[in-house]
Amino acid sequence: MAGAIVVEGLVKSFGTVEALRGIDLDVAPGTVFGLLGPNGAGKTTAIRILTTLLLPDGGRAEVVGLDVVRDAEALRSRFGLAGQSAAVDENLTGLENIEMVGRLYHLPSAEARARAVEILERFGLADAAGRQAKTYSGGMRRRLDVAASLVARPDVLFLDEPTTGLDPRSRMDLWAMIRELVNEGKTILLTTQYLEEADNLADRIAVIDLGTVIAEGTSDELKDQIGGEVLELHVQDRADLATIVEILAGIGTGEPTLDHEAGRIRIPVGSAGPSTLLDSVPRLDDGSIAIADIALHRPTLDDVFLSLTGHAAEQEEDPDAAATKRRGRARGEDPR
Ligand SMILES: Nc1ncnc2c1ncn2[C@@H]1O[C@H](COP(=O)(O)OP(=O)(O)O)[C@@H](O)[C@H]1O
Ligand SMILES: [Mg+2]
Repeated sequence: MAGAIVVEGLVKSFGTVEALRGIDLDVAPGTVFGLLGPNGAGKTTAIRILTTLLLPDGGRAEVVGLDVVRDAEALRSRFGLAGQSAAVDENLTGLENIEMVGRLYHLPSAEARARAVEILERFGLADAAGRQAKTYSGGMRRRLDVAASLVARPDVLFLDEPTTGLDPRSRMDLWAMIRELVNEGKTILLTTQYLEEADNLADRIAVIDLGTVIAEGTSDELKDQIGGEVLELHVQDRADLATIVEILAGIGTGEPTLDHEAGRIRIPVGSAGPSTLLDSVPRLDDGSIAIADIALHRPTLDDVFLSLTGHAAEQEEDPDAAATKRRGRARGEDPR
């Protein structure tokens, strides 16, 4: 085991729910690793095990060469964690929040304070240092939370959905913060539901669904897996979707994926995109199909997710209902 974070066959159940069904990960030092998956995929469970907050049922994991079970005590001071629900104390000021975390890491009080001042300065929170955290915006709170995870100068950071719920501007600020930390040599494992976030930040990505890693690689590798370009059509009348699949049978390099709700068909077309596009238009005309839009595009991670799982990486209100639905689909039951 040589990576900064190494996971082998990690398994965890809660009652009858198999939250992790044997995942393997290997995160090289000084890189950002993105654990990408929808609600209920098992991301937080993995982070909780890696940060010694939860015991696995099986498999093993090491962080900075320390076993998360056997060496838990020694490991605790070696990583930073910014959890999914920010651990910020609303009634304390920004400065007091970070100082408090420093004291939890047993820094002497003068050092905890000096470190808090330094960190707040560095992440653009110096002006707000003396204000209670309840006056902070959502973006500032997240930055404060990530900043607090740096108090003990850890080499490895775990960030659980660091930008979920943030506006685009705050998201960009956090991305910049994360990039800076990686440039300094930190290793970061972040979880996200946002394909765009993984695409932008992560050196490598593991796509996780229902407790299993269903694909792993760089963003480009994942996109290449589904074979080059994608022809995407939007219909005016959703009832035409099935007819289009018939009309365009054999035109692409793989199976079309349908999104009934969006009235959309995506067909992988390899590198023959332009000629496929030209071929398909007269065929659709002959079939009197009204197309709202037709375009070629390089696959997004959305396409990857769709092609791997047969469903979009949708965000749903109730994660358990969503996961139950996905389990049903995985067993071949009617998706609706
Ligand atoms: N403490 C718990 N008790 C019971 N079920 C849990 C608990 N923690 C997580 N789960 C379940 O395990 C699955 C994975 O959850 P989680 O790791 O939180 O997913 P994610 O972070 O990817 O949204 C979900 O079905 C969730 O309901
Ligand atoms: Mg989670």
